[in-house]
This record gives sequence, structure tokens and C-alpha cells, in this order.
Amino acid sequence: MQSLKELFDLSGKTAIVTGGAVGIGYGIVYRLAEAGANVVIAGRNEEENTKAEQELSIKKWNVKTFKTDVAVEEDVKAMVKFTVDTFGSVDILVNNAGIYPSVPLAEMNKADFDKVLAINLGGVFLCTKYASEQMIKQGKSGKIINITSIDALHPSSIGLAHYDASKHGVWGFTKNAALELAQHNIWINAIAPGGIMTPGVQKLQQAMPTPKGVDMKKLIEAFLNKIPMHRMGEPDDIGKVALFLASDMSSYMTGTQIVVDGGVLLS
Ligand SMILES: NC(=O)c1ccc[n+]([C@@H]2O[C@H](COP(=O)([O-])OP(=O)(O)OC[C@H]3O[C@@H](n4cnc5c(N)ncnc54)[C@H](O)[C@@H]3O)[C@@H](O)[C@H]2O)c1
Repeated sequence: MQSLKELFDLSGKTAIVTGGAVGIGYGIVYRLAEAGANVVIAGRNEEENTKAEQELSIKKWNVKTFKTDVAVEEDVKAMVKFTVDTFGSVDILVNNAGIYPSVPLAEMNKADFDKVLAINLGGVFLCTKYASEQMIKQGKSGKIINITSIDALHPSSIGLAHYDASKHGVWGFTKNAALELAQHNIWINAIAPGGIMTPGVQKLQQAMPTPKGVDMKKLIEAFLNKIPMHRMGEPDDIGKVALFLASDMSSYMTGTQIVVDGGVLLS
């Protein structure tokens, strides 16, 4: 039987984390690198990528970045090639990159809808396709983790119809891919976060106008009261679950979705 230390040890393994330079992705990169994995941060914002690589290199962890737009097929192929050229394999893929612009249905146009679907669902398809091809070629087992949302199960607010469609799609994709990839010892699961405080969420909050006469403090209090744990999540709340799914701790799991939401779906 493996010891606990061995179960969590990812040394010798290489992970790709899309959108891993900030927010939830960064929280995941941190825990995987700490567990010994080589990590490639695949994000489309070079400034964010460089900052993350600098921060993590201080720890002397093996973290590299590669400029990637997950919705662009050539970028995704190049991301897998860069990872293999740099570290020799792809053993773990975390499909985290995603966007959540808020647009009421009445104002949403086809381009708004297509953009969210192309990144959140199309990106998961492309990265899974090319990373799993590489994993199959390697002939060893692989782990794929898709970051969905509680919105893959239940809508959280209006303005996110395209987002919810994409995240329901990722959940369906996860289950079908799990069925197909099991024959290659590739295990694919999802994590459905609730509200996590990240740069993306902060931007969304700042963009929302405060309605006249509304006390923001009371509004935030009312929001937090809906969360049984009475706090927003932190990227590390997701990072720790991602480490569990990336490690041998989750040895008999595929095609599942773990909800990490402080209990909000209960309320
Ligand atoms: N923060 C939350 O409350 C929350 C809740 C549920 C699910 N999620 C999901 O978690 C994931 C991360 O969310 P976050 O809040 O950390 O976001 P964020 O906006 O803070 O960070 C997203 C990262 O992804 C990158 N990115 C965006 N589009 C990309 C693309 N096309 N190609 C490559 N990189 C791209 C960004 O540059 C950034 O580095 C998303 O899939 C989101 O839907 C977030």
C-alpha cells in the first residue's frame, strides 16, 4: 500500500493548467507544483504569465508558461508540443481557462454566445483532444480535470445563459470522454466551484453599477448569508481538490463532478 506521502507525490509528472496565471488556475498550479509536478501555465495573457512564472520560480518549482488561446486549435497543438519538448510528457491536464461575461439574453448577440462557447467548451474539447492523444502515445495513465461551475448544475444569476450552456456542456463532455478514455487509463473528472474570489470576479463586481439607494455592505452581507459557510471561496479551496484529483488519492474515480461551493447549492 502506498504511503500518504507517495499518494500525493507528483514528482516526475507534468501538468498543463490552462488559464493558470491568476485566480483558480494559479491556486491549482501552486498545489500541483508544490506536490512536485512540472507545470506549464497555458494562458493567453503574456503579462500575467510572466508574473506567475517569476513568483513561482522563487520557490524553485518547475513552472514554465506558454502563450495559448485555448479556443485556437494551432495554439493548443503548440501548447502540447512545447510541454513535451520542455518536460518530456503530458500526464495531467487541467482545463481551467474560462470567461463569464454577464449579458442579459435580450442584449446577447450571436457573437457573445459563440465566444463563450468557443473558449469554455470548445477550449476544453481542443485541449482534451490533443493532450489525451499525447497521453495515449505515452502509454501510461493520465488525469484530466475540468473546471466547470455550480452553474453546470443550477443557474446562479441572470445574464449567464451562454455561460451556463457552456458549463453544462463541459459536464456532459466530461462524462462521455471518461467513458471513451478509460480504456487508455485516462481518468477525467470535473470540479464545480461556487463563488471564488479571483481577478475575474473582482472585475465583474467592479463593472456592476451599484443601484441607487442600495447599501453595498448590506448587499454583500445578504450575499454571504446565502452561503452556508458564510464566506467566498479562495483559489486554494479549488487547488486542494485539484491536487486530490490529479494524485493517486482519487484512484477509483472517473466521470464525476465534485462540487466545492461552501454549501451554496443547498440554500
Ligand atoms: N471565480 C469563480 O467564482 C468561479 C466559479 C465557478 C467556476 N469558475 C470557473 O473557473 C475558471 C477560472 O475562473 P477565475 O475566476 O479564476 O477566472 P479569472 O478571470 O480570474 O482568470 C482566468 C484566467 O484564464 C485566462 N484565459 C481566459 N480566456 C482564455 C483563453 N481563451 N485561453 C487561455 N487562457 C484564457 C485569463 O487570462 C486568466 O489568466 C473558469 O473556467 C470559470 O468559469 C469560476
